[in-house]
Amino acid sequence: MIDAKPKVLISEDAIADKVARLGAQISHDYAGVDTLMLVGVLKGSFIFLADLSRRLSIPHTVDFIALSSYGNATARLTGEVRLVMDLRTSIAGKHLLIVEDIVDTGHTLDYLLRLLGSRGPASLKACALVRKPDRREVDVPLSYVGFDIPDKWVVGYGLDYADRFRTLPYIGYVDEGDTG
Ligand code: IMP
Ligand code: MG
Repeated sequence: MIDAKPKVLISEDAIADKVARLGAQISHDYAGVDTLMLVGVLKGSFIFLADLSRRLSIPHTVDFIALSSYGNATARLTGEVRLVMDLRTSIAGKHLLIVEDIVDTGHTLDYLLRLLGSRGPASLKACALVRKPDRREVDVPLSYVGFDIPDKWVVGYGLDYADRFRTLPYIGYVDEGDTG
């Protein structure tokens, strides 16, 4: 997997088009709301969040939170999630939109919705650019979804494999047969 160039699953143009649509939809849904706050989940969402934020036509703020992804085999099996870096700001009374790169099993988003929900936001919804419906283990509410994809490990546009490929402009995958 390390040396092969990922094949295109979702092109740069298709992503740009989808992000523009999501931005328009979110701007419409939150029109008139006093302080929408985008919560980017590090590291994977940083590119999506940067593009989505600039497609919003309504005032909003941005903050970041970092969670551990699958640190080890046990964590992956149990769906264990750990808070690595908290938000810098208080969210009580604010309208929050979690911005995730990808929802796979749903454990990460489930954890985040519980954590942030306990802090008294005015509203709490989630947006993910990519979702893998076949992998779902926890039924989490997603208000905005860019693309549903098959059960493949994808990289690019913020998504990584062992911290690589995040800056690929498209979302791609590497076939098992290409790993050499
Ligand atoms: P979940 O908790 O299983 O829904 O997924 C949590 C995290 O795993 C995501 O936020 C990503 O950081 C990572 N992840 C899951 N699937 C992929 C993938 O195909 N490529 C890159 N990262 C992924
Ligand atoms: Mg993530």
